[in-house]
Amino acid sequence: MSHSVRVFSDLDALAQGVAGILIKDLDRIEADHFYTIALSGGSTPEYIFRYLAENYAERIDWEKLLVFWGDERCVAPESSDSNYRMAYESLLQNVPIPDANIFRIKGEDDPATEARQYSELVSDNVAEFEDTPQFDLMLLGLGNDGHTASIFPSAISLFNSPRLFDVAVKPEDNQKRITATGRIINNASKVWFIVTGKGKAEIISRIIEQRSGFEKYPASLVNPASGHLVWLLDKAAAGNLKNL
Ligand code: 6PG
Repeated sequence: MSHSVRVFSDLDALAQGVAGILIKDLDRIEADHFYTIALSGGSTPEYIFRYLAENYAERIDWEKLLVFWGDERCVAPESSDSNYRMAYESLLQNVPIPDANIFRIKGEDDPATEARQYSELVSDNVAEFEDTPQFDLMLLGLGNDGHTASIFPSAISLFNSPRLFDVAVKPEDNQKRITATGRIINNASKVWFIVTGKGKAEIISRIIEQRSGFEKYPASLVNPASGHLVWLLDKAAAGNLKNL
């Protein structure tokens, strides 16, 4: 797994780092092209999203972005558990992005049907590379159990599902999820893990330093064909890494 690790002094610096690279990428795309990004869920991105909305609403060309999700909880968009709601309230409603550029996963619908329909929606709106939609940028988080998107160690085979999006179950509470699979994750042009906090330092070092048993962590299977995998960490999350 070729990757690079970028460590930031704090969350503000990490958010500025994210914004800086995004602005450069958007400057490089052709006029009539869009930049497709798949957002991660959970709690970690919320601070970053709020920072982008408060500090980059006028400095990022939001109209060039098409926004998708890497996974969603099977709940209504109003639910406090909804990844869409988190991103909408912390970022999307606060920046000049057209509603037509936002492609949410309908967590309120039948999971299997929505997984299929969202795979079609992504295929219709994201340019292909090697017969598979290729996001320009895929954001991923990391759970303490080594899960990413909604691919959990107990169902790691889901990473190799032939589908683009599939149905998952969070083992702790049997909550149904809709998740991107390895087929579309590893086809992204760029994959960024954004992981923060001391609580994640151990799992990060196990995966990045490939310590014994690392293969059982779904996040260890993230290895984009483009070779562009970056871990964006704050100092606390990078605390256990030896070879920095
Ligand atoms: C989700 C996520 C999931 C998340 C990790 C980390 O829907 O929960 O997409 O993969 O990124 O669970 O979650 P935290 O950021 O809350 O630690």
